[in-house]
Amino acid sequence: MKRAVFIISILISFNAFGGITQEDIDKNPILKGKMLAKKCSWCHDINKNLVAPPFRVILERYKDVPENSLRKQFFQAIKNGSKGKWKKWMKENLKIKMGKLDSMYMPPQKEYYNDEEINLILDWLFSLRK
Ligand code: HEC
Repeated sequence: MKRAVFIISILISFNAFGGITQEDIDKNPILKGKMLAKKCSWCHDINKNLVAPPFRVILERYKDVPENSLRKQFFQAIKNGSKGKWKKWMKENLKIKMGKLDSMYMPPQKEYYNDEEINLILDWLFSLRK
């Protein structure tokens, strides 16, 4: 029984993923943002530690900051990059030697995304906050 439920849930998730059409994406801005954010996953996972803090950890750290000001902060980070804010997290979570920490930063993403696309990515990111 358990096995069947497991298999069915796999089938459903597969279908949900494989079944996304361009039309679905155009209709749903959150989905659009999610697709655009695929490039972020080189460095950020939603939950797991990669070379950058997971999105849930980022959102948790700033949970008391109102969305409109946090949006501005993240917009800048995505557009122009970010450095130094997560040094402590990197030191504690990534086993990186002190000297190397200075070369760990988020490069500007403005060559890949225009302002509108950054806002779509932020719509998706903030949807995780709820
Ligand atoms: C090449 C790796 C890399 C890529 C690609 C990348 N990031 Fe980052 N990101 C980082 C690192 C490293 C940090 C920590 C920077 C710091 O210490 O200030 C960071 C920090 C952040 C922060 C926190 C900024 C703050 O004010 O604390 C946000 C939000 C963020 N990234 C979002 C994104 C999004 C969205 C994308 C995709 C559009 C993205 N990142 C792509 C490496 C990356």
